[in-house]
Amino acid sequence: MKFTTRTLLAFFTTLASSLTMLSFTNALPIEARDVFVPRILTPTDGEIWLVGQLHTITWNVTNAPAQITNPVGKIMLRKGNRTLNVTLAENFDILSGITTVTVPDVCPGHDYRVVLFGDSGNWGPEFSIIMAGYGALEEPMVKQDHISMITHDNVD
Ligand SMILES: *[C@@H]1O[C@H](CO)[C@@H](O)[C@H](O)[C@H]1NC(C)=O
Ligand SMILES: *[C@@H]1O[C@H](CO)[C@@H](O)[C@H](O)[C@H]1NC(C)=O
Ligand SMILES: *[C@@H]1O[C@H](CO)[C@@H](O)[C@H](O)[C@H]1NC(C)=O
Repeated sequence: MKFTTRTLLAFFTTLASSLTMLSFTNALPIEARDVFVPRILTPTDGEIWLVGQLHTITWNVTNAPAQITNPVGKIMLRKGNRTLNVTLAENFDILSGITTVTVPDVCPGHDYRVVLFGDSGNWGPEFSIIMAGYGALEEPMVKQDHISMITHDNVD
């Protein structure tokens, strides 16, 4: 084959259109996948929950993608920088935007967050869990031992 300007041009045009098609087909699955990362609205920053109380957790479902990969929600409890193996709610419709939970008997603390799992695993602002009748926030070292940590903490 003799490389004239014309054949070279034809060659690169073909190559370019193949690459375009390749990147287009590669891009499709990414664009079709809608990861729903709803913002948690309650508990709000600094809210106080008493052990045993019922509380609602809400998140923003406005403008949720039309197709969600995983519509089944699960909410876990996070303390400090660790997600605890404490499930507050599960098997609810993530598009409902609300679920009611009973505050678990965990050690008092002001650095709890709820983690909403579905498509993603995002958490809300810090709130407190305290025992009824306790004025101050104490963090005794008891009770922590039987709560194992989750290792598949994939979201920062
Ligand atoms: C919920 O999300 C929508 C769209 O993203 C936004 O306009 C609205 O202000 C949010 N609502 C709250 C209560 O944050
Ligand atoms: C998590 O917090 C603990 C205690 O504050 C700290 O020692 C540890 O380095 C933190 N880990 C990460 C990954 O930030
Ligand atoms: C989390 O807790 C559940 C039930 O309490 C238990 O079955 C499961 O093994 C625990 N998972 C981890 C990673 O410790």
